[in-house]
Amino acid sequence: MASSGRRIVTIDGPAGAGKTSVSRRAAGLLGLAYLDTGAMFRALALRLGPGGHELPEAAIEAALGAMTFSLSGSGADTVLLVDGAPLPAAARTEEVGGRASNLAVLPVVRLRLRLAQQAMGRENDLLAEGRDMGTVVFPEARRKFFLTASPEVRAARRVGQLAALGKPADYQAILEAIRRRDAQDTGRAEAPLVPAADALVIDTSDLTEEAVVDRIVDAASR
Ligand code: DC
Repeated sequence: MASSGRRIVTIDGPAGAGKTSVSRRAAGLLGLAYLDTGAMFRALALRLGPGGHELPEAAIEAALGAMTFSLSGSGADTVLLVDGAPLPAAARTEEVGGRASNLAVLPVVRLRLRLAQQAMGRENDLLAEGRDMGTVVFPEARRKFFLTASPEVRAARRVGQLAALGKPADYQAILEAIRRRDAQDTGRAEAPLVPAADALVIDTSDLTEEAVVDRIVDAASR
């Protein structure tokens, strides 16, 4: 547990609800280090390769045992280091996100990554972003948020992000991938994606990024 007197703010929610950019900006404004826990699941997915969730549990545990996680920098400029290096851009694809979601069902993966997340919460005042930050990893956090948006809005945002990078995107395929990942993240037995009872739920469908950041900073500063 991070009952170390550290200041912890949590932001949870489904893929594409706008958590990552909002969390990074809010961390900067609140003077907290930013921890993207999805990136930890993605790092494991990259390390194990396609089909990693079907490997024997001992092999997955050995890979996890050999990985180290730390934070460098602060506020909006915080960088998650895996074995001392930032994650490659390849970790950000939908494909790796789907593989991370498959791995996130496994209790051994959740346990190991939870311990690593809590260790970083003992070392840093933290804005922790993920699926189970407020419910399982940092239940004692002083302020909890749950960001949500309709699957259609989230898919349209993703298409826009890809277009900005000059990458073609199929709205229908992205919408289906988002629905699949929602079902898997929400339906799993361990640490399912649900708002903590004491979380402030923000539907970002009709809000600008600025408006969401403002609400979080305002509520977390009180
Ligand atoms: O936030 P993201 O898309 O980078 O997360 C990738 C996957 O990792 C997500 O589909 C489920 C899993 N995840 C999780 O189970 N718990 C977290 N705290 C963060 C991510």
